[in-house]
Amino acid sequence: MKQFISVSDVPSVPRLADIALDYKSNPFKDKGLGENKSIGMIFLNPSLRTRLSTQVAAKNLGMEPIVFNIDKEGWALEMTDGVIMNGNTSEHVKEAAAVMGQYFDILAIRTFPGLKNKEEDYTEKYINQFIKYAGKPVVSLESATLHPLQSLTDVITIRERWNQPRKPKVVMTWAPHVKALPQAVPNSFAEWMNAWGEVDFTITHPEGYELDPKFSGNAHIEHNQDKALEGADFVYVKNWSSYEDYGKIACTDPSWQFTNAKLQHTNNAKVMHCLPVRRNVVIADEVLDGPNSIVIQEAGNRVWAAQAVLSEILKHGK
Ligand code: CP
Repeated sequence: MKQFISVSDVPSVPRLADIALDYKSNPFKDKGLGENKSIGMIFLNPSLRTRLSTQVAAKNLGMEPIVFNIDKEGWALEMTDGVIMNGNTSEHVKEAAAVMGQYFDILAIRTFPGLKNKEEDYTEKYINQFIKYAGKPVVSLESATLHPLQSLTDVITIRERWNQPRKPKVVMTWAPHVKALPQAVPNSFAEWMNAWGEVDFTITHPEGYELDPKFSGNAHIEHNQDKALEGADFVYVKNWSSYEDYGKIACTDPSWQFTNAKLQHTNNAKVMHCLPVRRNVVIADEVLDGPNSIVIQEAGNRVWAAQAVLSEILKHGK
């Protein structure tokens, strides 16, 4: 694996999941792999899980992780080529990425979308500029449209909890939120479920929340949430803003909140969420504090997903 930006960088999803689960059983088996190597973790946006789990993963491989909150501690970055820099930006990504590429063996970047300009966000302008100028393998810590470390985590979380011969029914359901959120997590979850192919995958959301078909692919789309949840083995709850009316909140209907009443429609489903989650807006306390929630175990698995990705890049990323 030369970089980790989307599922298309992964030669085999099941094999990468195996590697991740192997690290879960034996975290320090490759302690020497990252010796004298470092990873620069560049944040343009906040994070708890991605930041800490990737640092732990790097440490488990013997690598030195260095975190840089470039949005707060660095110079204001110019991301557009060929501009006259007489405004608010002080340093061009051409220099910033190239310089950081001199310091680290792997660069990892978190860059959220602006949710104003669909074309700019969906061409992944920011992360692509880092890839173009860094000269080192780049790992996405969540980009404008995708969150592959989260999605690999979600694959291994489903995999380790499912031991029946039939495919599990996995339902990703939209839920309300007070803010307009990116489509990165649902886009990514959808493309990984589709690429993995070992689940029966349904997406449910109100009208107006269709994802870019490039990511939803052949998933079954059902606008009736209760109907979609029938027989679900795993429910993945997530809010996202509209892709069509880009970045807008098209619905605030609280009846889409995931509650114990919704759980009743399922096959005693395990409930997943990438976190952070707004309690009693997105998912009710009764679900998050109940026996069906696996959100903490899911977040714990972030370490093994990150460790698998870093190890593969250390081995093959040159
Ligand atoms: N799920 C996730 O990416 O969490 P953080 O935003 O806290 O990193």
